[in-house]
Amino acid sequence: MKIIPVESYEKLSRLGANIIFSQVTVKPRSVLGLATGSSPVGIYRELVARYNAGELDFSGVTTVNLDEYIGLAPDHPQSYRRFMQENLFDHVNIDPAKTFVPNGLAPDLEAECVAYDRRIDDLGGIDLQLLGIGLDGHIGFNEPDDSFCKPTHVAGLHESTIAANARFFASKNEVPRRAISMGLGSIMQARKILLVANGPAKKEIVKQAFTGPVTPRVPASILQLHPDVTVIFSEE
Ligand code: GLP
Repeated sequence: MKIIPVESYEKLSRLGANIIFSQVTVKPRSVLGLATGSSPVGIYRELVARYNAGELDFSGVTTVNLDEYIGLAPDHPQSYRRFMQENLFDHVNIDPAKTFVPNGLAPDLEAECVAYDRRIDDLGGIDLQLLGIGLDGHIGFNEPDDSFCKPTHVAGLHESTIAANARFFASKNEVPRRAISMGLGSIMQARKILLVANGPAKKEIVKQAFTGPVTPRVPASILQLHPDVTVIFSEE
């Protein structure tokens, strides 16, 4: 595991974008696992800038997103599908048919989860998975638990996650209580992992997750067992 401390969010974003840039340049038909949240926004901004500069081509790329809120339509302002459209997909030459986000309105949620993992398998697995980290150590919506949950599943959001994500909604009551999330097994099967964490509030959880014991109480700690993880942390 490589842990790279940087002094600013700008540097985090530039470095993170460099890693994705290299991946797509070396393998134009890459499968990228993508994340939402505030931390990766700067990376997406950088990638769009490089696309606009003619340096990056997304035409061969396929993306699979980590998670989606249950009950939000794709065009809901806080859905993760909409987030991805607004922050990346609408601004680059990616084929919309090759961008996958779990369907939070699926009539059969269990079937949607099984199909999502099957899709990742059919794509040949994820080449590079981008992750943020929650204050309680969650990745995707894999919350602290008694055991590591491996496949894509329906996840209940913990109180602290609902409180943290309330900033994006009109009120805490509007934050969905459940989401479809890629499981830790699905994430761990990615060939490379890039995790970005930003701000002083994340310092303690980053330390616990990457220098503390591997435990399902801190879901991100499982990444210590992955052979190719880069963590970029900015305290700004
Ligand atoms: C949400 C997402 C996670 C993300 C986390 C942290 O809960 N499901 O994938 O990592 O928020 O977000 P932020 O980067 O805004 O702190």
